[in-house]
Amino acid sequence: MNGKLVIVTGANSGIGKEMTREFARRGAEVLMVCRNVEKAESARDEIASGTGNSSLRVVQCDLSSFASVRAAAEELLHLERRFDVLMNNAGIYLPKRRESPDGYEMMLATNHLGPFLLTQLLLPRLEGARVITTSSMGHKFCRFSLDHLNAEHGFFAIEQYGLTKLANILFARELARREGQKRGILSHSFHPGPVASGFAQDEPGLFGMGLKLGRMALRSTNRGAKTGIFVATSEAATKTNGEYWVDEKIAWTRPAARDPKLAAGLYEKSLRLTGLA
Ligand SMILES: NC(=O)c1ccc[n+]([C@@H]2O[C@H](COP(=O)([O-])OP(=O)(O)OC[C@H]3O[C@@H](n4cnc5c(N)ncnc54)[C@H](OP(=O)(O)O)[C@@H]3O)[C@@H](O)[C@H]2O)c1
Repeated sequence: MNGKLVIVTGANSGIGKEMTREFARRGAEVLMVCRNVEKAESARDEIASGTGNSSLRVVQCDLSSFASVRAAAEELLHLERRFDVLMNNAGIYLPKRRESPDGYEMMLATNHLGPFLLTQLLLPRLEGARVITTSSMGHKFCRFSLDHLNAEHGFFAIEQYGLTKLANILFARELARREGQKRGILSHSFHPGPVASGFAQDEPGLFGMGLKLGRMALRSTNRGAKTGIFVATSEAATKTNGEYWVDEKIAWTRPAARDPKLAAGLYEKSLRLTGLA
C-alpha cells in the first residue's frame, strides 16, 4: 500500500489499532482519527517503531459531537490530498441512555451519525476510495424503525447498539448505491467477530460481565482486524459493492439490512439529523 492514504477512526485501540498496524506494515500513510489523543500518540509511536513506518498522524475527533467531526474533517480536507481508504471503525456500547452534545442518543451519535457526517464531509476527496464501516452481528438483535432511532421512549442497550450496527450496514449499502457510479466509491460493512478488545469492558451490566467472563474464548484484535483489511485491500471486494462481510466472505444479513427503501430512508434522515439537508 505504498503511496496510499488511509483514514482509520478509533485507531488508538482494539480492532482499529490492529488495522492501523497492518496498513502501516503494508507501507500506507495512516491518519489516525481518535478521541483520546494521548492514547493515540502512544499507539502511533508503538506502531511506528514496530513497523518502521513513521507516516502516521493523529487527528483529534470526538465522533459523538458534530462540531468535533466538522473540525476534524476540516483538518483532513486541509491536507489537500485524495483519500484511498476510510475505515469508519470507532464504536461504543453503553448500558444507559446518555445524550450527545447535539441531543442524540450517544450510541446513535457515535456509531452512526458521527461517521455518517464525517463521510459526507470528506466525499469530495473520496473519489475512487474504499469506505469500510465496522458493523456487528449485533445488528440482528433489534427492532428498527426510522421513527425511533433516538430511543427516547424506552431504551434497551443491546437493542440500541444493534440498531446503530444495522444503521452501519444500511449506510454502507446506500453509500454504494449513491456514490458507487458517481464517484467510484466502494462501500462495504463487516463484522469482525467476537473480539477481546476494549469494547464494553468497563460496562457494569450483564453484557459487560459476559464479555469479561468469555474473554478467553474471544478472538484476538489481530484476527478481528482481518476482515476489515481484506475488504479494504482485496481484489475480491471490488467485484461487488455495498455488501456485509464476515470472515473475509460476503455474509447473510437479516431482511431489514437488505431493504433498499429503509437504506434510502435512513440516509435521507441522517442528512437531516446531521444538519446537511
Ligand atoms: N469487540 C467486539 O467483539 C466487536 C464485535 C462486533 C463489532 N465490533 C465493533 O468494532 C469496532 C471497534 O471496537 P473494538 O472492539 O476495537 O473496541 P475498542 O477497543 O473499545 O475500540 C473502540 C474505539 O472507538 C473509539 N471511540 C469510542 N467513542 C468514540 C468517540 N466518541 N469518538 C471517537 N472515537 C471513539 C475508542 O476511542 P477512545 O480511546 O477515545 O475510547 C476506541 O479507539 C466498533 O465499531 C464495535 O462496534 C466489536
